[in-house]
This record gives sequence, C-alpha cells and structure tokens, in this order.
Amino acid sequence: MSRRRQLYEGKAKILYEGPEPGTIIQYFKDDATAFNAQKKGTINGKGVINNRISEHVFLRLAHIGIPTHFIRRLNMREQLVRQVEIIPLEVVVRNVAAGSISKRLGIEEGEPLPHTLIEYYLKSDELQDPMVAEEHIACFGWATNEEMQDISAMAIRVNDFMCGMFAAIDIRLIDFKLEFGRIWDGDYSRVILADEISPDNCRLWDMTSGEKLDKDRFRRDLGGEEEAYQEVARRLGILNDADSGPGEVFDLTAHRSKLRTGPKPKK
Ligand code: TMP
Ligand code: ASP
Repeated sequence: MSRRRQLYEGKAKILYEGPEPGTIIQYFKDDATAFNAQKKGTINGKGVINNRISEHVFLRLAHIGIPTHFIRRLNMREQLVRQVEIIPLEVVVRNVAAGSISKRLGIEEGEPLPHTLIEYYLKSDELQDPMVAEEHIACFGWATNEEMQDISAMAIRVNDFMCGMFAAIDIRLIDFKLEFGRIWDGDYSRVILADEISPDNCRLWDMTSGEKLDKDRFRRDLGGEEEAYQEVARRLGILNDADSGPGEVFDLTAHRSKLRTGPKPKK
C-alpha cells in the first residue's frame, strides 16, 4: 500500500492528500483535548462516531443548499472532502448560555439567550483563540465583508436546521462551532462550510433530563463520554449498521445508567 502524504495533524483529526487534486482525506482520531490542549485524553471510538455524525449532518445541510466541503465517507474513520483555504475563524452560534459566555458575562448556564448570538474567535493556539469583533476581521483581512455576510447567513441557516434536527430526537442544541473555507475558481472564491459538526464542537443537552451529550462530559470530568456520543449517533439513526463495530449490540439501558454515574474513577 502506498503511503499517503500527511498534510496536517490537528488535535482531533489528521489531514492527508486526497486521491485527486483539490481533495483531502480527513481522518478522525479518538484524541480529545480541552482548554487549548491543556487537558488531553482519548474518548474510545469517538473518531468513528464523529465521522458518521459529521457525514450525516453535512449531507443534510447540503440538501437544504448549504455548500460544504464534504464529498463522501471513505471508511470508518475517514472522509473525502474538498480542499479549502481555511478562514482562520471559529464561528460560534449560541442559543442558550453555557460555557465561556456564562463565565465571561455571569449568565447562568441553561438561560435561553434573548436571541441567537454569533461570535467570532481567531483560530490561534498560541493566542488561545481570542474572541474578535467583525471590525478586527475586516481590519486584519481575515475575511472580507462579503465573506462575513455569507458566513453569518450560513451560520444562522445551519442553526435553524440543526435546532430542528436535534429537537426531533429530544436534544436541545445549546451552541456549536463552525469553520469555513474558501474555494477558488480562477480569480473568484466562494465560502463553504468545512471542518466537522459533532458532539466535539456542539453542546447537546437531553431535552427532558438536561443530561449533557457532548464533549463537556470530557471537559468537566463527568464520565460517560463514549456512551453520550453513541447516544447522539443512535438517536440520529446512524449507529446500527456494520460500521458501529462487529457484533456490537447497543444497550441503551446500560448506557443510560452509565451516563448518570458521573466521573469515572481515575486510573
Ligand atoms: P465555549 O462556550 O467554550 O466558547 O464554546 C462554545 C461552543 O464552541 C461549544 O459548543 C464548544 C465549541 N468549541 C469548539 O468546538 N472548539 C473550541 O476550541 C472551543 C473553545 C469551543
Ligand atoms: N478542542 C479545543 C482545544 O483543546 C477546546 C475545546 O473544545 O474545548 O483547544
């Protein structure tokens, strides 16, 4: 087997050169980090589940006309995507206060926001992803005003769609993070949705119990992260085929009780 050229290794994914020009292979790792990689760990099977969840969400977003980098899933941990020039911004959409906004502004977690908020953070590990205003984005040329209009319009459409998609499976979409990239056609470029959408970059709370079904379980040492990610995949109807593991039977009751038990004993 010929070795593929690795282009980049991130915290949760590795990017390899794709089979055709303009394509890339995204490999989903089980590695998890939080607080700008100060906390590191693994969530067993996360890569497999995030690959499937992200495929599912990107395909559905494509159906409603959102342009995305997703081409097709290749195997359990890899997907083929379009190569983009990444826009160095993390676009966070919030419906309900949680995480950094609660800390920064002293709003209780779980408090619905008066309206949906979009925030921008500069993608920079060295600077720990500082929040930036649209003024900074224009001033330093990270994206043009036209691109920001497309980005904010897409972020709102993604939010509307995902709120409905998750509500249908009894999950409340608290907030999430998106990344966008440019694709060039001669002198012209357009912005498309890139990266991934998964419980790594969304806050997902069970509508009834309020249980967290996302990476906050890892960030906050709540335990049960594998089960939470599997639960999201199961509710989306994407866990029960061959790729979820040979002979694996999903036992909801067992997972539910694990979710409630809280932190795992430290080894
Ligand atoms: P925050 O409350 O920590 O700012 O996070 C808001 C949302 O963005 C939450 O769903 C988690 C996601 N997120 C990422 O995907 N990557 C990050 O580096 C951070 C800080 C947040
Ligand atoms: N993944 C991010 C990091 O480690 C942070 C997070 O998702 O909370 O930088």
